[in-house]
Amino acid sequence: MSDSIRIAAPATVSNVGPGFDLMGFALEQPLDILKVKRNKQNTIRIFNESDATIPLDPFKNVSSVAIKSLLDTLQINEGFDLIFEKKINPGSGIGSSAASCTAAVYGVNQLLGKPMETESLIDSALAGEFIASGSLHADNIAPALLGGFILIRSYNPIDIIKLTYPKNLVCTLVHPDLVINTKESRKLIPEKIELNASIAQSGNIAALVAGLNTNNYALIGRSLIDKIAEPHRSKFIPGYDILRKRLSDCGVLGMNISGSGPSVFALSDNPETAAKAAKIMEDTFLENNIKSVTYVSGVSQVGTRVLD
Ligand code: HSE
Repeated sequence: MSDSIRIAAPATVSNVGPGFDLMGFALEQPLDILKVKRNKQNTIRIFNESDATIPLDPFKNVSSVAIKSLLDTLQINEGFDLIFEKKINPGSGIGSSAASCTAAVYGVNQLLGKPMETESLIDSALAGEFIASGSLHADNIAPALLGGFILIRSYNPIDIIKLTYPKNLVCTLVHPDLVINTKESRKLIPEKIELNASIAQSGNIAALVAGLNTNNYALIGRSLIDKIAEPHRSKFIPGYDILRKRLSDCGVLGMNISGSGPSVFALSDNPETAAKAAKIMEDTFLENNIKSVTYVSGVSQVGTRVLD
């Protein structure tokens, strides 16, 4: 059995408009890469070979916390080195910590001879995500681990549903050069929501699932409305309302904040519109003196995987 393995884990868009904490999908790019190596020290050691800033203290690093949780579940004590080649920046709203957690538990599970089913790794990955965001949301973790478009019906017990979706769906994603901390961003959202908002949110999430399932692009587009998080978080994304208007004029199906932001995503039914949306996103942030990186990507059927 090999002592070392390289794992890739995808970026993810969570919430997807109305699905706050309940919905997410995996992107074909960007991908995080993590090398996991057994060591003889019976401890987890972190090495960073990327430009991203990540905690090197194993008690503060999401991946080592996730591995510790997995080892506790398996009741074993082994040491691993984690060598990060991060491509997904922390604080970007595209599941950076989720990708780190799923890559870590997936890699360790492989090196241990796969004692766990992939889906059962979710709980350990969530334990890592918890220290980054202060909450046990799986809407990045589940698609990062399993790929595809995911709905989380229930958290206790966890019940994850892989949705079908139109194969032509294209996501344009912009990551402006801003950092929004998920823990802080969650504090912006009131504990209670109005009945009217709850009704609208339920209608939109149900309609989004129906639209995805029946390849109804127009329905997908008009369901990408969020009454819970977007009203509070969009204020921290300069130019957001202008961006929404411009993207709508260019023909995207719909748009919203990716996860807790600052990244913003738009869905289109063809690559040409998706490419135009990328340019509009970049230009709109530049008008606000903010540089950005854009991605045009399909939804990835594949989640976390072995590279070599
Ligand atoms: N659903 C979570 C949130 C995702 O919106 O806070 C964080 O990336």
